[in-house]
Amino acid sequence: MDHFPYRDGTLYVEELPLTLLAERFGTPLYVYSRAALETHYRAFDDAFGDHPHQVCYAVKANSNVAVLNVLARCGAGFDIVSGGELERVLRAGGDPDKIVFSGVGKTADEMARALQIGIHCFNVESAAELELLNLVAGELGQEAPIAIRVNPDVDAQTHPYISTGLKENKFGVDIRKAPALYQRAAELPHIRILGIDCHIGSQLTRLEPFEDALERVLALLTELQELGIEIHHLDLGGGLGVTYNDETPPAHEDYVAALLRHIPGELPVHIEPGRAIAANAGVFLTQVLFLKPTEHRNFAIVDGAMNDLIRPSLYSAWQDIVPVTPHEADCRDWDIVGPVCETGDFLGKDRALALEAGDLLAVRSAGAYGFAMASNYNSRGRPAEILVDGDQAFVVRQRETIEDQLKLETLLP
Ligand code: LLP
Repeated sequence: MDHFPYRDGTLYVEELPLTLLAERFGTPLYVYSRAALETHYRAFDDAFGDHPHQVCYAVKANSNVAVLNVLARCGAGFDIVSGGELERVLRAGGDPDKIVFSGVGKTADEMARALQIGIHCFNVESAAELELLNLVAGELGQEAPIAIRVNPDVDAQTHPYISTGLKENKFGVDIRKAPALYQRAAELPHIRILGIDCHIGSQLTRLEPFEDALERVLALLTELQELGIEIHHLDLGGGLGVTYNDETPPAHEDYVAALLRHIPGELPVHIEPGRAIAANAGVFLTQVLFLKPTEHRNFAIVDGAMNDLIRPSLYSAWQDIVPVTPHEADCRDWDIVGPVCETGDFLGKDRALALEAGDLLAVRSAGAYGFAMASNYNSRGRPAEILVDGDQAFVVRQRETIEDQLKLETLLP
């Protein structure tokens, strides 16, 4: 179900017209739907049925504390990649025992804090990290629960920047070397082996790469069992793609069913979806400032820019751009560009739209890797974020002011 439907010629989020939100809160603006977040989370969770599992939402996709809180209330666990994300999850009321900690560069301080909080599992990405974690846990008189993130060398068939499971990527441990590292982990006094972890990339639109990776993980499982190493869960990462344009990714339930078909017995499974929960639960609202048709191209200059939503500039990602209130006028091909001083500052190119200055546009599928990747480039304040629940709108992050930006900076004496 789409939580951003047109009604009477205006784009809505749940029960509210986006025109009203733009009037009340200004633009550019991120707008999220609580119902969409919950529906996407539950689609994963319900698909597991009675099979022991934990859906650990990948916080990096959208780390607003209100978004995290909505998911925590549904029973979500969380996949974090920094101390900052850990504090966000705690602030949002997330259960420490459902947190998994991924990432290639965890610091000793981050490890210590996560151990003190009592997170569920560290997804260890290298031999050096394993040794440091053992030391840190020893100093605290604790045992660190771990899974080793293995790199199965499968091609996720996605954008090279978001593919992580090839042997030339920096992530995880070569799956062929994993048994030796598990044996080392088993010897370390302050390490407790819990699981095997694997994440091969993001925006995957086919099941085969997931199944190929799982097959290799299951071969490792058997090998570890033969070595007398017990495994208590498999973490299969995130990565399920969404429809931005004409992609047809598997439905959440088909993805889970495909994984479960291969899982032996009641072995617990964790997944770490981010995009498939958040992307289509949000839009980015922006207003047309000026129309600038030229001999070569037609530019619609809008008040949102690459600092607010960087995916089009960074990955040449295509996100749908739709008028909030479509009207009859000449339809032309427009490049939707922002005020930032870079040629690469665009939200979309060659979009057939009927536009006038003052029009509101909604960039769809902006709930994941939107605000979370925003910056202050060109000293632009980051947009406000609104979470809508039925006919109510809540400001879950205020628009940044120039004072917010300047408060951490000082002049020389
Ligand atoms: N788990 C791990 C270890 C990850 O590295 C990621 C994403 C996820 C889970 C969640 O993946 P998802 O379900 O969202 O695909 N900024 C890029 C995406 C980067 C993804 C990085 N890792 C984009 O805007 O497309």
